[in-house]
Amino acid sequence: MSGTTVIAIDGPAASGKGTLARKLAQHYGYAYLDTGSLYRAVGQAVLAAGQDPNDDAAALAAAENLDISHIDEKTIRTREAGEAASVVAAKPAIRAAILDFQRNFAANPPGGEEGAVLDGRDIGTVVCPDARVKIFVTASPEIRAHRRWLELNNSGSKVNEAQILEDVRERDRRDAERVASPMKPAADAYLLDTSDLSIEAAFDAAVAIIDKAMS
Ligand code: DC
Repeated sequence: MSGTTVIAIDGPAASGKGTLARKLAQHYGYAYLDTGSLYRAVGQAVLAAGQDPNDDAAALAAAENLDISHIDEKTIRTREAGEAASVVAAKPAIRAAILDFQRNFAANPPGGEEGAVLDGRDIGTVVCPDARVKIFVTASPEIRAHRRWLELNNSGSKVNEAQILEDVRERDRRDAERVASPMKPAADAYLLDTSDLSIEAAFDAAVAIIDKAMS
């Protein structure tokens, strides 16, 4: 597809894939794209317009007007934006609107880097099926809920951990059961369970997988 080296990092909500993908991009000197932030920005824009993320027309208008350079990192990280993202992401028209941007990023990383790390749900299966290395990051729902709770708590949102666990389960169900590009490991993806791994240990394990696959 392109001359760039693409590393695909997929996995469920709060599996640690974002932190991992960012560190990997730094390590290899590649560009990094958090594709979840695109869906979050669309979901957040629908909410900000006072509309319902289930509304097809409202979601599509938000996707078509998405300005990547003006994504507000703080507002897209809220629990509500994550939920809205998961709802709009189930719509084929929204996925189609965002697909080209992602593929173009992978093929022509901004800054001229020779590679790109993309993280999401369908990078290895749909967005970049020819990625050089694919890793599917998992962790138990309880551990993911605890991590998400810590993250939200640290950013000042007072949320209940049991509620976050329910959200995680609901997000998993919605992301995995949707018809359009469901979340699932590519047949040739390496599975990395981070339940019992620190960020550093998960990073070391991923580097070992990637170095071996690229050697
Ligand atoms: O990774 P995240 O939690 O920031 O993603 C938010 C939502 O966006 C997630 O619930 C599903 C959706 N998403 C997707 O469908 N495909 C992607 N490649 C990335 C995210």
